[in-house]
Amino acid sequence: MRAAIVVSDPLDWTAQALLASFSAKGIDSFFLNFSDLSAAITSGQTFRCAGVNLLELDAIVVRDLGRKGPGDVAFRFEVLQALQERGIAIINPPHAIARAANKFATSRALQDAGVATPRTVVTNSLTDAEKALQDFKKAVSKPLFGYKGRDIILLEEGAEADLVRLKSVLEGQGLVYLQEFIPLDNPRDIRAFVVDGRVQGAIYRVAPPGQWISNLARGGRAASCPMNRELEEKAAGAANAVGAVYCGVDLLETEQGLMVIEVNGTPSGKGIFEALGVDVTAAIADHVHQNHYLRGR
Ligand SMILES: Nc1ncnc2c1ncn2[C@@H]1O[C@H](COP(=O)(O)OP(=O)(O)O)[C@@H](O)[C@H]1O
Ligand SMILES: [Mg+2]
Repeated sequence: MRAAIVVSDPLDWTAQALLASFSAKGIDSFFLNFSDLSAAITSGQTFRCAGVNLLELDAIVVRDLGRKGPGDVAFRFEVLQALQERGIAIINPPHAIARAANKFATSRALQDAGVATPRTVVTNSLTDAEKALQDFKKAVSKPLFGYKGRDIILLEEGAEADLVRLKSVLEGQGLVYLQEFIPLDNPRDIRAFVVDGRVQGAIYRVAPPGQWISNLARGGRAASCPMNRELEEKAAGAANAVGAVYCGVDLLETEQGLMVIEVNGTPSGKGIFEALGVDVTAAIADHVHQNHYLRGR
């Protein structure tokens, strides 16, 4: 069996761990950088990357799709879609990566699946945005395709400066994603890593003193988080809602129980490995291996 790991940085911890876990399972695997992709449509269709005929692969695990421009992202997704249609296992499936990357799509998928998530308004209209802010009193504005806690701002109803910030987000991005702010005494979130519907491990990410954004990339500190049934059900429910085989699910502890705020469809396994010693790539390799035999390829 042959599998490719799509990654742009060959030194990436997760990509390296995937390679080792695949090798331990006897899966022949190698890295592919999707910046070398070519498709040809003639009497049939071919898809190649750095000299490799992608149609000859059994599986592709996407760690990082990379991109050179907005059109290029669509091209890379379409190639994954084409390969999936031709029976190659794409992990995560392209529609899952797309849904998880888009916070509006994720919020919708979570709500549709009955997974608790904070109230959210996404709008092009300043009037509707102001109304949402009034309803929520405090709201978090997030870029639709944001990551690593970047460009997230806390807005408060009635604060003149925050109204200016809200307008500037709307003008700059053409829309605003506003979510009710969940106040916490000691701001932290939970990152649960799900593979194949099972939580492999979970960590708290504790925000630095005086701050409320807890991403590790923003100085958050990882600590072991005990597992319980609610966490397992909601994290697995979130993974299923977006259709991810493996993902990182971010949850907040609220007075109404755990709420899922986002799903990361191309997560790093490094944080959970360093905090808990759990290597999630072993479970991903298990999935690829089992799936291969189930499909009888
Ligand atoms: N609704 C919210 N209420 C309180 N804190 C939040 C809320 N949404 C996000 N945060 C904080 O901001 C961080 C980043 O938010 P998240 O939605 O996970 O975006 P990103 O994709 O940038 O990680 C979270 O880990 C959490 O600490
Ligand atoms: Mg997050």
